Amino acid sequence: MSILVTGGAGYIGSHTVILLIEAGYDIVIFDNFCNASKEAIKRVEKIVGHKIATFEGDVRNREDLTKVFKSHNIDAVIHFAGLKAVGESVENPLKYYDNNVNGTAVLCEVMAEYGCKSIVFSSSATVYGDPHTTPIVESFPLFATNPYGRTKLFVEEMLRDLYVSDNDWKIVLLRYFNPVGAHDLGIMGEDPNGIPNNLMPFIAQTAVGKRESLSIFGGDYDTPDGTGIRDYIHVMDLADGHVKALEIIKNLSEVMTINLGTGNGYSVLDMVKAFEKASGKKVPYKIVPRRAGDIAKCFADPSYAKEVLGWEAKRSIDEMCQDTWRWQSRNPDGYKNKGK
Ligand code: NAD
Ligand code: UFG
Repeated sequence: MSILVTGGAGYIGSHTVILLIEAGYDIVIFDNFCNASKEAIKRVEKIVGHKIATFEGDVRNREDLTKVFKSHNIDAVIHFAGLKAVGESVENPLKYYDNNVNGTAVLCEVMAEYGCKSIVFSSSATVYGDPHTTPIVESFPLFATNPYGRTKLFVEEMLRDLYVSDNDWKIVLLRYFNPVGAHDLGIMGEDPNGIPNNLMPFIAQTAVGKRESLSIFGGDYDTPDGTGIRDYIHVMDLADGHVKALEIIKNLSEVMTINLGTGNGYSVLDMVKAFEKASGKKVPYKIVPRRAGDIAKCFADPSYAKEVLGWEAKRSIDEMCQDTWRWQSRNPDGYKNKGK
């Protein structure tokens, strides 16, 4: 079975490609490298032991996609390609609507043209906004607090409309919680541009000496230690969720919406302590005012994923930190040649 992985050079896509190849799928990667390095693909190829068909192109560009579908018999698409920086989406919303919403529309049109109607989409826990309670189940009300989140909501709705218009479509919407960690060989991992927005890469860069100190955004939340609580999930567990989604996709008779989280909530201070333990390094921090738009608590009820996919996250917070540290300490400058 041939799977097209859009955004396959990115953080989650590159890790998922490894497990897909190990599961026996033929993989085609499609990426415009706007937030990825070609080196990431070389590292994947090193791990799997062979070359991977790779197309440089943009999901908004029909011709770029047509080249792939003309030359490969694609059975299903895993659609990771998208922009994900919340702050940038507030400053430049049209860029996000164009890339994430229009990009998905063009992709689906070309898929339909070539008779490929199976898609797994990267959604996000951000679609729950500020949940009224935790853990979060899939039926909770949806709300977006920023343009990035709205693109995820819109694409979910667009794909549901697509299914209503044509029941041949097989659609899985995976709502990721907070992906962290890296492949355990230490040659692949998350490689953010500039100053990291997300907690884990910031902690890792502080531990390796690239940043002086972590700013903890808010120490006065209604949580046991006052800092924000999230559901951190190891990227390899997340990747495995995609392999499981492909196993059921052919038999779907409705659009499936599934949380991919561990069900455990950890605070910012829990993460700092776990990282110090894993790395043997001190992570200096200071508590600063809350970050606009942040919520106190967000963690999944992952029981539906277990029921329908037979999937559950297996890796502990210690493994998440150890694997991040192995990648960060051996590759302090990431893939170095990002965007090339
Ligand atoms: P990433 O930026 O590392 O990967 C996205 C990839 O898509 C990059 O390789 C980028 O170059 C590519 N891309 C972007 N726009 C493209 C376009 N128009 N055409 C072709 N390629 C394009 O991000 P990631 O963390 O791997 O996230 C993957 C997906 O998961 C994204 O859709 C993201 O919104 C979603 N998601 C991520 C998180 C997270 O915290 N990392 C959480 C929830 C959902
Ligand atoms: N945090 C800090 N200091 C930092 C960075 C983060 O204290 O330098 C805190 C935040 O306040 C929050 C927690 O660490 O309490 C996690 O923050 P992240 O930025 O790592 O992650 P978020 O939960 O804010 O958001 C992430 C992605 C979103 C996605 C969401 C759910 O950035 O795009 O997870 O999947 F929608």
